[in-house]
Amino acid sequence: MNDPRIIVALDFSDPRQALKFAGKTTPALCRLKVGKELFTSAGPVLVEELVASGYDVFLDLKFHDIPNTVNRAASAAANLGVWMLNVHAMGGPAMMQAAREGIEVAAARPFLIAVTVLTSMSDQELHELGVAKPLPQFVDQLAHSAIACGLDGVVCSAREAPSLRASLGDSALLVTPGIRPEWASANDQQRVVTPQQALADGASYLVIGRPITGHRDPAAALQSIIESIS
Ligand code: C5P
Repeated sequence: MNDPRIIVALDFSDPRQALKFAGKTTPALCRLKVGKELFTSAGPVLVEELVASGYDVFLDLKFHDIPNTVNRAASAAANLGVWMLNVHAMGGPAMMQAAREGIEVAAARPFLIAVTVLTSMSDQELHELGVAKPLPQFVDQLAHSAIACGLDGVVCSAREAPSLRASLGDSALLVTPGIRPEWASANDQQRVVTPQQALADGASYLVIGRPITGHRDPAAALQSIIESIS
């Protein structure tokens, strides 16, 4: 079965831009990520439209709330027909279990993954929040907690992929942003990894936005990345 590894981040505020991009490619070539900006401006109607066009949609809303609220939000997302959704592992085990129970309402259960520590957060900031552990150990602890709660994997920096793959084993999904082909600008990403390297390091799926969506020929940019990893 065709299993595209690239998840294109549709970081637009205007749903017309998202639909225009979706019209330029096909579900056989990529999956699509809808995040907070696009979802807040365009709503679930857009997600349903992308799903109806045959795309696998990763709804990247990073739920973090009391277990009952996250349970119901996860059910609502699953009922939209999304392929994947996520929560913050820092919401705790009860919240993650509630999310997992929430997605089981859907006919096709979506994948549920966790954000461990945001990659924008430094060791120093974590320390100021009262976390005594060094960041890599804390990421590992949260990732194990997510798997123990029945989640399918984690979002992580490609730099964290080798250690998490070794620590979590083969079945966990590792979804990695911060990916840049050699020819693309890093934009505001601080530490980037090439698509080939991320997959070699154990990533399951690559989240890629601006190198594709900001390219003058997005379909050609996507095709070139697909060729580089196949
Ligand atoms: O355009 P670019 O490829 O940098 O987009 C990366 C996407 O991945 C964006 O939607 C961004 O919000 C998301 N992301 C990230 N780093 C994280 C988590 C998510 O870049 N640690």
